[in-house]
Amino acid sequence: MEFSIKAGAPERIASDCVAVGVFEKRKLTPAAESLNRAARGKLHDVLKRGDMDGRAGTTHLLSSVPRVATERVLLVGLGRENEFGAKQYRNAVRTAVNALADTGVRDVHLCLPEQHVEGKDMDWMLRHAAVTAADALYQFEEMKSKKSPARRLRAVTFARPGRAAAGDRGLVEGRAIAAGMALARDLGNLPANICTPTYLAEQAIKLGKSWKLAVRVLERRDMERLGMGSLLSVARGSRQPPKLIVLQYNGAPKRDNKPVVLVGKGVTFDTGGISLKPAGDMDEMKYDMCGAASVLGTLRAVAEMKLACNVVGLIPATENMPGGAATRPGDVVTSMSGRTVEILNTDAEGRLILCDALTYAERFKPQAVVDIATLTGACVIALGHVASGLFSNQDKLAEELLDAGADAWDRAWRLPLWDDYQEQLKSPFADVANIGGRPAGSVTAACFLARFAESYSWAHLDIAGTAWTSGKNKGATGRPVPLLSTFLIGRSGKPR
Ligand code: BES
Ligand code: MN
Ligand code: ZN
Repeated sequence: MEFSIKAGAPERIASDCVAVGVFEKRKLTPAAESLNRAARGKLHDVLKRGDMDGRAGTTHLLSSVPRVATERVLLVGLGRENEFGAKQYRNAVRTAVNALADTGVRDVHLCLPEQHVEGKDMDWMLRHAAVTAADALYQFEEMKSKKSPARRLRAVTFARPGRAAAGDRGLVEGRAIAAGMALARDLGNLPANICTPTYLAEQAIKLGKSWKLAVRVLERRDMERLGMGSLLSVARGSRQPPKLIVLQYNGAPKRDNKPVVLVGKGVTFDTGGISLKPAGDMDEMKYDMCGAASVLGTLRAVAEMKLACNVVGLIPATENMPGGAATRPGDVVTSMSGRTVEILNTDAEGRLILCDALTYAERFKPQAVVDIATLTGACVIALGHVASGLFSNQDKLAEELLDAGADAWDRAWRLPLWDDYQEQLKSPFADVANIGGRPAGSVTAACFLARFAESYSWAHLDIAGTAWTSGKNKGATGRPVPLLSTFLIGRSGKPR
């Protein structure tokens, strides 16, 4: 999908279709009013007939409107004007694009970004228009032998009223974030027999070649030398070799600038191991590498935006399988930090691979470390599919991530990391147990990680409820690529 900005009166735009907003009840936006004037009241007639009253989620497609250059005009319902905000704007873009996805329209001119949203500038309007349009048009057909006929809709142009350069940066960011999300979704949606740790490593190397990232892949023997006994304990049951993928983007003016380290959980399939999961919906555990996918997607976005910052991506990748060599409940392993862990439940494997990656992150002398993981079912119970769980040992970092999520409409909600919860992780046999019982399951998982992140500013995003959707529209969402990208835009200097 191509996105660009086009200036000019909507009635004179050269395109297959021009899309303009209508508020409830039957109130034309300025762009719609402009078309109506050119067409000598034709749009008013349509509204009067009762074919479009402006309700959110509705559209009405008109053909051959007199004295309008495009063959089609799409009226898009925006809902009530006094309720029009970020969410309504994004829904309007989505509705418009969906209405045209399976028509003959090849390019559409969207006048929606001219609509003011309280507190948002033109960069925000265009960034969100591009991300939302791309999100709506995403399809995953890689595994189908017969692809559905290619969509005609190829290009979206956005109206930009006002200053010539306003919104240009927003569009650059929108394109990059959209592409990063699509990459994360593709990797998430691939089945686990294709998307193995080895495949993830190959994709990281490919990404590195395309976007000038330094990529290194640590093998099992490298991890053994580093003493990553916790990570390796998860890989024991699998035929697939584990990988620790390291990607580096250097965009800061000074090479010695401290990086932000992103750590993504890359369990390419989580059976639970010897603590085997029940059969129902187990297929969804192919999504247990969505943290890893979000790290790759974000690095792609950061590189495309040419952000002036340094970012390291760390991906511990493994399967979690039962088998003759698999870790047993009660086994005690030694992590890279030297601390011992009693593995009471082999299904609490995410924290076991992340703790060693967090220790490994120390060598980059990070300004901040953010890990992203489909870590706990309990997080889905706490926050549902709306917000990701956020935990941090630093208030400023937590605020920054919450703000980035709010701005990107990829929201997170903070949960506590108080010492009191650490009690639940006590083990009679090792330094720490890998589970803390049913109460506050997401918090105790985060508390486990916090023990390995004491030497730097750290945050943890539990994306178990937000990384994919279930049901008939099952699929990866690409979250939290928008949150992470927005956070890194904020941590960057002027683009190169
Ligand atoms: N990958 C799962 C978490 C998960 C489950 C995410 C369902 C999304 C949907 C994780 O590895 C896991 O199995 N966690 C256990 C932890 C428990 C054994 C303490 C869980 O949440 O049940
Ligand atoms: Mn598990
Ligand atoms: Zn898991």
